[in-house]
Amino acid sequence: MVIRIDGSDREELIRRAFQARELFYAPYSGYAVGAALLTAEGKIYSGCNIENAAYGPTNCAERTAFFKAVSEGERHFKAIAIAGGPAGKVPTEYAYPCGVCRQVMSEFCDKDFLVILAKAEADYEVYSLEELLPKSFSL
Ligand code: THU
Repeated sequence: MVIRIDGSDREELIRRAFQARELFYAPYSGYAVGAALLTAEGKIYSGCNIENAAYGPTNCAERTAFFKAVSEGERHFKAIAIAGGPAGKVPTEYAYPCGVCRQVMSEFCDKDFLVILAKAEADYEVYSLEELLPKSFSL
């Protein structure tokens, strides 16, 4: 199966990732991330990164979005948009998802799940999950 999303879905997803980024909680790193996750039915769940003084409990924006969606009963996903960079600044780099978030994506998504990395609404890269996490672990 090849997942495709149309231009307006992609634009909306990127917009929602930037909106979610505004809610970041990152007093330790000062790095703000937002993510917006599109379900197979077209619903969007968003998330920001949420840090913790003990560091370890920190949750990435991508996992916030996934855990919100999965805990609401969602199991089928098409794409996620991610926007990240130093807080208070427009991102100048693409924020690639960390390994833990890639593994969480692989738990719930097919190889052709789309990962959209955005610096701006019209400046983005698109990868399949297979490209970002080949030969992933599963049981
Ligand atoms: N972070 C994310 O939200 N997503 C990632 O994929 C990588 C890192 C967050 C976690 C932490 O709050 C900050 O970025 C710096 O690592």
